[in-house]
Amino acid sequence: MKVFKLHNANSSQAKYLQLAETVRNAIKQGQLTAGDKLPSVKSISQDLGVNRHTVMKSLAELVAEGWIESIQRVGYKVVHNLPIERSSTLAQVNDSSHPTNYRFVRSGSQLPTYPASDCEYNFAGGQPDLTQFPFDEFKRCMSDVLSRPQLVELSYGQSAGTPELIEQIKRYLRKSRAITEREVVITNGSQEALFIVAQLLLQTGDKVAVEGLGYPPAMSVFSSTGAELVGVKQDDQGMCPDDLEIQILKGNVRLIYLTPLHQYPTTVTLTISRRMAIYQLAVRHSIPIVEDDYDHEFHYRCQPLAPLATQDPAQLVIYLSTFSKIMFPGARIGIMAVSKAMAKAVTEYRLMICHKSNVLMQAALAKWMSNGGFERHLRRTTRLNLQRRDHAIAVLKQYDCFEFDIPDGGMALWVKLKQSKNVNQAPPSAQKLAEKCQQMSIYVQHEKQFQLNKNSEGDNYIRLGFAGMNEGKFADGIALLANSLHIKN
Ligand SMILES: Cc1ncc(COP(=O)(O)O)c(C=O)c1O
Repeated sequence: MKVFKLHNANSSQAKYLQLAETVRNAIKQGQLTAGDKLPSVKSISQDLGVNRHTVMKSLAELVAEGWIESIQRVGYKVVHNLPIERSSTLAQVNDSSHPTNYRFVRSGSQLPTYPASDCEYNFAGGQPDLTQFPFDEFKRCMSDVLSRPQLVELSYGQSAGTPELIEQIKRYLRKSRAITEREVVITNGSQEALFIVAQLLLQTGDKVAVEGLGYPPAMSVFSSTGAELVGVKQDDQGMCPDDLEIQILKGNVRLIYLTPLHQYPTTVTLTISRRMAIYQLAVRHSIPIVEDDYDHEFHYRCQPLAPLATQDPAQLVIYLSTFSKIMFPGARIGIMAVSKAMAKAVTEYRLMICHKSNVLMQAALAKWMSNGGFERHLRRTTRLNLQRRDHAIAVLKQYDCFEFDIPDGGMALWVKLKQSKNVNQAPPSAQKLAEKCQQMSIYVQHEKQFQLNKNSEGDNYIRLGFAGMNEGKFADGIALLANSLHIKN
């Protein structure tokens, strides 16, 4: 028979409650299982040196809670239907049956079976070089924040973001993009912004106009609302306004999604005349535009074209940007620059999800921006990324199997796999190449991954990120990749 040792013997808790907790824990931990008989009141009382009345009161408590039962002429026993699921008794029952089949009524995106970050050569298109981040400098900002915490911000409230960061970002958007007079909301990356916008504006039966080759995480959130995605034609100048108009005239287009500065994944910059044509169409039909300006900072040929959001008298542009490329994706800092009405709706909606973004990260970032560290890092990485783009171009030109246009900016190249001169050889498949690369710990994305219509024919292009790895590594990775193009399937 088990002798109990009082739980928490020195606490100020009443003795009978301490004993009840001791027995409860013994059951939870499996020392006592269903049907086990408890020692008699007399022996418990003697063992623990507490009076019988206390033991009786404790056992009555456990009976009331449903842990034990009192059986005439037998004494107290552990019940069979315990009030908790994690007791060893229930675990034993569950072991012999099947795990619960939840009725999932919704699902998210599939987790990657082979994450890019696990690969030796990571050509993911938007990957910054994490080794270049000035952690020591940022650590000082974070430490400052922790030494002098703004208690108001540590609590709930201020769902749009910490006032200091909003101020810094407004200033930054004005200086770098001429975006003014907009409300700024800090989100957990632009993905959260995309999700909330989709939830606020879309429902079953609606349509969203996207490019036929696009950003899968955006497509997923739009279709999660029950909306239908319609693929608009695109070419070497970006989305085709004529085709957009055809789609709009078919009815029910409620949102247009664009990555105008560097189209994702093709890297093409949407021309000024097309921007104007698309904007005018949107105004005429009252359709909001999500402008996803995810890598604005990295434009090398000239000053980046001004975002649509800078000339938006109708206030239908929902402007998004992110710190995932300038800092690191795990920072989860996204920016929305929107009308007052949209900012209010977004902040109210996010109260149901997460209230706000991490306040320590926001405050540290605000410090880093105000002390000039952010701009220094930006200048360094822009120089570095340009250097890496030029190096990537030089490396790819050494092979006769790649064909590409030089992008005006961004962190990736959209590269066509050339047909071999040997006419008997099948055209190269980008998907097969990516699969082969996987076996060599090379992560590369292929055209099919970006297609809205999975039955589309194109399978010629790969997207090669050049910013995430140093030059030597990039060249080594490309050598392996090019070599595997020649390996027979
Ligand atoms: C088109 C596009 N939008 C947005 C993002 C950034 O997403 P987040 O801010 O959620 O990290 C990326 C990152 O890869 C992207 O490629």
